[in-house]
Amino acid sequence: METEKNIILVVDDDKTNLTLAQNILLPHYRIAASNSGRAALKYLENHRPDLILLDINMPEMDGFEVMGQIRQREETKTIPVIFLTADNLAETEIKCFQMGAMDYVTKPFVPDILLSRVDKTIELDQYRHNLEKMVRQQAEKITEDARRISAIQDSVIIGMANLIESRDGSTGRHVKNTQNYVQLIADELRARGLFAGVLTDDYIENLCKAAPLHDVGKIKVPDAILQKPGRLTPEEYDTMKLHTTYSGRIIQMILGDLEDKTYVKMAEDIAMYHHERWDGSGYPTGLAGEDIPLSARIMAVADVFDALYEERVYKPPVRPIERIMQIMSEGRGSQFDPTIIDVFMEMLPKLKEHLGIA
Ligand SMILES: [Fe+2]
Repeated sequence: METEKNIILVVDDDKTNLTLAQNILLPHYRIAASNSGRAALKYLENHRPDLILLDINMPEMDGFEVMGQIRQREETKTIPVIFLTADNLAETEIKCFQMGAMDYVTKPFVPDILLSRVDKTIELDQYRHNLEKMVRQQAEKITEDARRISAIQDSVIIGMANLIESRDGSTGRHVKNTQNYVQLIADELRARGLFAGVLTDDYIENLCKAAPLHDVGKIKVPDAILQKPGRLTPEEYDTMKLHTTYSGRIIQMILGDLEDKTYVKMAEDIAMYHHERWDGSGYPTGLAGEDIPLSARIMAVADVFDALYEERVYKPPVRPIERIMQIMSEGRGSQFDPTIIDVFMEMLPKLKEHLGIA
């Protein structure tokens, strides 16, 4: 099947030149002809030729002025233009290229030269077009690949965290639940303009992606302690506390090579410090107040809320939810960051809605 011929717009006020150009090009191309700059611009409102042959010396609107408008319009700015000129002055040639012309041809036309210049320009423009298309497709593919890899990474992390969490006899929902709660709390804090400049979109995204790793260190805590139905002895509790530093080390071990250092640092902060207390009496380091990373202060609230709301091997769920809020409010300023816990208290209707409680 014959491929469709490219369209060339020839713009010249001289009828003889128009006819001559048509005769030379017509066997190879489809031709549209305009006898003024204004007529050409009008034609370009509804058509997109593959090349424009544009005479410079025309009455009313010369070729340079027409070119200026072609380059300004979004739909026409990439159409290649060859100027037609009666002189061969160096300054005319320079101006042609300065205006963004692909080439210029002197009149009277030498048929072979005109045809060869037109052929070459069309060919070059097609290469440019194909190259642009290829770059665009590659860029789209890279974005899609990155998105897929990131999704795989997220699901591997959640899967691993779930696996570890399931050992301690919790309901198996703790990983997902706490991830949801940190998101709800962080969104609410930001909506109220709190921690402005820190709680950015990126920060909250990293926070939610990193939250599931907060207890991965439990993998190194013996089952006998994790699954013990009764109270832990002081020694057992000391071993249990080590899950925070274990978590930090494991995260560094498995994610340390990731390029996204902000994410890795946040995952480490959350894991290491989610059992620190505002008054400095927490573990493992006894950090206090704002020295505890914000991510870990938010995680602390989410973690305790879920621990109280869900059933564990060693305790039934606490009900009603108002009782949980009461218990947590007592930790204001001692266990929890007062700013965060104050907002959390006001989130009761949202939490009920999230949990499907009437
Ligand atoms: Fe923990």
